[in-house]
Amino acid sequence: MKVVDISDLRSHTGEEVTVRGWLRRKRSSGKIQFLFLRDGSGFVQAIAERSSVSDGVFQNANNLKMESSVVVKGVVKTEERAPGGVELLVTDIEVVQIPEKDFPINKPDHSIDFLMDNRHLWLRTQRQTHILKIRHEIIKAVREFYNDRDFVLVDTPIFTGSIGESAGNTFEIDYFDYGKAYLAQTGQLYLEAAAMALGKVYNLGPTFRAEKSKTRRHLIEFWMNEAEVAYYKHEDNIKLQEDLVSYVVQKTLERAGDNLLAIGRDIGKLKKIEAPFPRMTYDEAVRLLQKKGFTIAWGDDIGADEETAVASEFDKPVVVEKYPKMMKAFYMQPDPERPEVVFCDDMLAPEGYGEIIGASERIYERELLIERIKEYGLDVSSYDWYLELRDYGTVPHSGFGMGIERVVAWIAGLEHIREAIPFARTLYRIHP
Ligand code: 4AD
Ligand code: MG
Repeated sequence: MKVVDISDLRSHTGEEVTVRGWLRRKRSSGKIQFLFLRDGSGFVQAIAERSSVSDGVFQNANNLKMESSVVVKGVVKTEERAPGGVELLVTDIEVVQIPEKDFPINKPDHSIDFLMDNRHLWLRTQRQTHILKIRHEIIKAVREFYNDRDFVLVDTPIFTGSIGESAGNTFEIDYFDYGKAYLAQTGQLYLEAAAMALGKVYNLGPTFRAEKSKTRRHLIEFWMNEAEVAYYKHEDNIKLQEDLVSYVVQKTLERAGDNLLAIGRDIGKLKKIEAPFPRMTYDEAVRLLQKKGFTIAWGDDIGADEETAVASEFDKPVVVEKYPKMMKAFYMQPDPERPEVVFCDDMLAPEGYGEIIGASERIYERELLIERIKEYGLDVSSYDWYLELRDYGTVPHSGFGMGIERVVAWIAGLEHIREAIPFARTLYRIHP
C-alpha cells in the first residue's frame, strides 16, 4: 500500500493510500468518527464509518486519544470545504501507541510559561508547525539569494579568540591551556578574511550574546546570516541588503503563503516589500524623533521604542545610515567628510519589529584599526591575524548581518521572537 504525505493526498484522489502520523483531535457522532490527523506535511480529516469498516477498526478509532500515533489506510475523496481539499475514508487503522496520559497542551489559553516549558510538545501544534515552515522557507530563500549570485558559503567558527562585536555581552569559556575563549557574537572578522580570498562570501549560523535584556526582540542564542564583499562600499552594501530582504519576503510569500494565511498574517503588507527602501541618516532620524516628542539628543542610542517610531513612518523597511562612531562597533569606516560618523546602516523592519540588519563598510587601514581597537578597550594582541588582513593587499570592503529570528518574527507577524526559533534560549530559559 502506497504511503502518501498528507500534503500530497490531492494527487491521489480516488486511490486507497496509507497515511502515517498522529491523531490531533477527534469528534464522534456515534456512527461516524471524525479523526483529524497530522503527519508533519499537513492535516487531514479521516472518516471512519461504523457501516463501512470492521468492528475492530471502528473500536481502534474509538480508543484513540490526542497524539496517538497511527497508520491509517483510506480512500482519498475530494471535499472542497476541507483544508487541502480532500478527506480520507478510512478502511483500516493500525495503532502504534495510545498515550497513557492526556496530552498536556489541550486548550487554547495555556500560559506562555507553560507552553515554553513544554516546547518539545508545543512544536506539534498547528500554529507552531506553520511558523517552523515559514522559517524554513526564509532560510532557504536566504541561501538561494547568495548562491544565485555566486557568493561562496564560508562557515565561520563558534569558538573564537577575538571578540567580534563588543566586550559587553560575550560568553566566556575556559579553552584548555589557551585560557579565555568566547562564543561568537558574529562571524564577521572571519568573513572579512574569506572575502579577501573569495571576493563574495556569506555565512549562516548560530551566534551568542549574553544580553540581560528581556525584550520581545532579544534572544541569547540567535541565527545570523552575514555577507561580506571585497571592494564593496557603503552604497553597494545597502543595495545588496535591499535586494536580499525583498527577495526573501517575496519568495516566502510565494512558497509559504498558505502558512502565513493560516496564522493570520496580513500578507497585503508583505506584498509591498520591494526594493528600493526609504532611507534617512541618523541625524534625520534624531530630528524626526524630536518632532515626535522623544527626548533624544544627537549621540544618543536609538532604542527599541525609537526604532518603532521611526519605522512606523513607512510601510517598507527603512535604512538608517551614518550613525555617530562612538555608538557603533570598532571596525566601522569613518566618513572622511565627517569623521564623527561612520559608513554604517541599520535596517528597521516595519510594524514595530525593529532592527533586522546591522551593516557597515570596514576600516581597511591598519593604523586606524589599531587606534579604534584600543579606544574600545579591546586586547590588540588578540587581533593580530585580523590586523594582518590589512598588510597584504588591503581593500575597502563591506558587509552586514541579518538576524534570522527578527526576520521570521516580522514576516510571520509574531508577537515575540521566542516563537521564531525551534528552541529559544532567553535570559531565564535553557530548557527544553
Ligand atoms: O547589529 P549586529 O550586532 O551586527 C553584527 O554583529 C555585525 N558584526 C554583522 C556584520 O556586519 N557582519 O547584529 C546583526 C543583527 C541585528 O541587526 C539583529 O537583527 C540581530 O543580528 N540580532 C539579534 N537577534 C536576536 N537577538 C539578539 N540578541 C540579537 N542581537 C542582534
Ligand atoms: Mg546592530
